[in-house]
Amino acid sequence: MSPRVQSVIGMNDVLPAEAARWRALEAAFHATCARYGFGEVRTPFCEYTELFVKGIGEGTDVVSKEMYTFEDRGGRSLTLRPEGTASAVRAYLEHAAGSEPVARWYYCGPMFRGEKPAKGRYRQFSQVGAEVYGDAGFSVDAELIDLAASFLRALGIPKFEVRINSLGSGDTRTRYEEALRAYFTPLRDKLSEDSQRRLEKNPLRIIDSKAPEDQALRPGAPDLIKFLGDDDKKHFDGVCEVLTKLGTPFVVDPTIVRGLDYYTRTIFELKDASGSLGAQDTLAAGGRYDNLVAQLGGKPTPAVGFAMGIERLLLAAPAPKAERAQSVAVIGIGNEAAVCAEALSIARELRSAGIVTHVDTRFGKPDRQFKYADRVGAQAGIVLGSSEVAAGTVVLKDLDVRSDFGAGGDRSQRKELDAKAQRTVPRGEVLAAVRALLGTAAEPK
Ligand code: HAM
Repeated sequence: MSPRVQSVIGMNDVLPAEAARWRALEAAFHATCARYGFGEVRTPFCEYTELFVKGIGEGTDVVSKEMYTFEDRGGRSLTLRPEGTASAVRAYLEHAAGSEPVARWYYCGPMFRGEKPAKGRYRQFSQVGAEVYGDAGFSVDAELIDLAASFLRALGIPKFEVRINSLGSGDTRTRYEEALRAYFTPLRDKLSEDSQRRLEKNPLRIIDSKAPEDQALRPGAPDLIKFLGDDDKKHFDGVCEVLTKLGTPFVVDPTIVRGLDYYTRTIFELKDASGSLGAQDTLAAGGRYDNLVAQLGGKPTPAVGFAMGIERLLLAAPAPKAERAQSVAVIGIGNEAAVCAEALSIARELRSAGIVTHVDTRFGKPDRQFKYADRVGAQAGIVLGSSEVAAGTVVLKDLDVRSDFGAGGDRSQRKELDAKAQRTVPRGEVLAAVRALLGTAAEPK
């Protein structure tokens, strides 16, 4: 046997049972966003590299270390999107800027970052996110935080914390970075290796470093909130007041600085508080980025948004109760084309009436087909062979009764019960009989 090719490190398959949870989560996000008046945007999985370099910032870990960048056949540099915000702004500028005063968009899809894989941290991961363009007020910041918190509650995530902070606007960030350099430079030797490197280029990241030696030095570091100008302070107080009135609990956390360069003013994270996610406990993160639209070539336009990692949400959400949809198995006895075709035609009729219908298309021995029906959890079996096809009938079996009895039971008892649980039905009445047996009101679609 030749060696098997494995999946790419940090990129995972989602198998059918898990995919059902993904679909439910995505459907819940579509529904939540629709209720908040957001429209969906779908952008390509890759963009010209310069979009992310300009948008996210050259000094960030994402751009300097984690992007999947390659040349296309024309020698242009492309990058698999590491996040959705820069792409959404690009699309906004290309199609929507100027056409409506406020655009409310959301998205859902895979992102790519070459990070060290761990539980909750992958190289291909998926985000759901929302962005608002054209609203500079503090209310929309609070509304987005409230949307994210409502969504986590709707998913049944039991314990999470909303943490907020403000990076201010104008030169607040630069002044704060200078103050951080002044504080940390004399302590350089005590910093982690990563933070020693960050000191010049990105001292903000020392503040949210997880290294114990960096955390030990943090209490003496300057406090970002103290650097805010009056307008920034007013904006931040507004966010806090609206959240309080909305009854969305939050804490002001001066250690939140965010890892992407585009943020201004409000920044926030929603963290899992159950302890089950380990170090990757940030479920949702976002903030205001009032300069990015102009930085990417548009008119100055205020903007704010957030994104959440689907894998982390699924790790934090309770496992769903195992529930099987009601379903039917069509069992064709004898591998003749006429029987197989009739079985498939019955299955098609039931499926188009909205009934989940299984067919073991190998059409093997009856026992094997009944086992298949058991495994997929079918409640009803429709059995037919060449004599039923000739007579224009089928045998309808209540498989729930049959399986209550169990496969290992006494043969005579089993026969008796089987007889009670089955009857002959004319072909034209199969749908009505199945509906009556399942007790479903499924109507033809
Ligand atoms: P971010 O903090 O880089 O922000 O990512 C947002 C969320 O995506 C994280 O909180 C986490 O749940 C998930 N996430 C990030 N990286 C990974 C990974 N490697 N594996 C699994 N999940 C991950 C952004 O992406 C910004 N674009 C958010 C935003 C939108 N800001 C304004 N608008």
